[in-house]
Amino acid sequence: MRSNGSSLVLAFSGKGGTGKTMLTTVLIKVLREETHKKILAVDADPAVSLPISLGIREYESVGHLREEMKADSRKRVPTLKGIHHASTMFEYQLLQSMVEAEGYSLLVMGRPEGPGCYCPSNHIIRSAIDTLSKAFDFCVIDCEAGMEHLSRRTTRGVDIMFIVTDPSAKGVATAKVVKDLTKEMKEESGVEIAEMYGIINRVEPAMGPPVAEKLKQYGIEPIGILPPDPYVTQFDIEGRSLLELPADSTTVQGVKEVLRKLEIL
Ligand SMILES: Nc1ncnc2c1ncn2[C@@H]1O[C@H](COP(=O)(O)OP(=O)(O)O)[C@@H](O)[C@H]1O
Ligand SMILES: [Mg+2]
Repeated sequence: MRSNGSSLVLAFSGKGGTGKTMLTTVLIKVLREETHKKILAVDADPAVSLPISLGIREYESVGHLREEMKADSRKRVPTLKGIHHASTMFEYQLLQSMVEAEGYSLLVMGRPEGPGCYCPSNHIIRSAIDTLSKAFDFCVIDCEAGMEHLSRRTTRGVDIMFIVTDPSAKGVATAKVVKDLTKEMKEESGVEIAEMYGIINRVEPAMGPPVAEKLKQYGIEPIGILPPDPYVTQFDIEGRSLLELPADSTTVQGVKEVLRKLEIL
């Protein structure tokens, strides 16, 4: 087990439709069942689909929070639920927007409301991750492909970034773009992504190794090769939470294997 005394921030990126949200959910499932530690799930994709995957129907996104509240630190603010202490109005609002589910908490970023571009919200996402991740053992972020919200200075980097791809040339090309972007981010703004691994998802076993080879050529170390999972398809059809996937699901087994390789389990 890794233990550096602080929280471990894990994030999923990659082309749309490759399985980021599905894998975020399965990762949360496995961490919840195997570690019993405090987990924060963050839906940082403006398209918002993590709550559905987790089986959560009611939530409030934080896209509407105003950045100005951050500066409001001298005002007295209430404390929520004992374990969390809000020191600013911004933090208080963040904590209020958090869904407390069984074995994990969920924060949904969503889209900012009202006029203005997406940038203020990006700042909010970074602040939220910085602020909240400290109170949790694991912070698992379902990103959009571009990772815009991570691309400026944040005090808290990402410890492990999983770049998810399907076997398609497009998926692998996007993986390379994401990798190059993280390099730029580090050079331009010092945002640190400590470790980065590729996960090839929904690939017939025979096709896995050649795709893994391509990722390696791009300097992305493949850490998992996952086949199409009939359970996931079945759960999708039935609209069931992927947290309920059975232990013999190839995805559950594959994610466990990845976490063992990383010495998280
Ligand atoms: N290995 C797999 N086997 C079967 N279905 C999968 C697999 N991986 C992903 N899916 C399904 O494909 C769809 C797209 O996955 P999703 O996680 O939403 O992608 P993303 O978040 O990257 O856009 C979802 O319905 C998901 O459940
Ligand atoms: Mg998604």
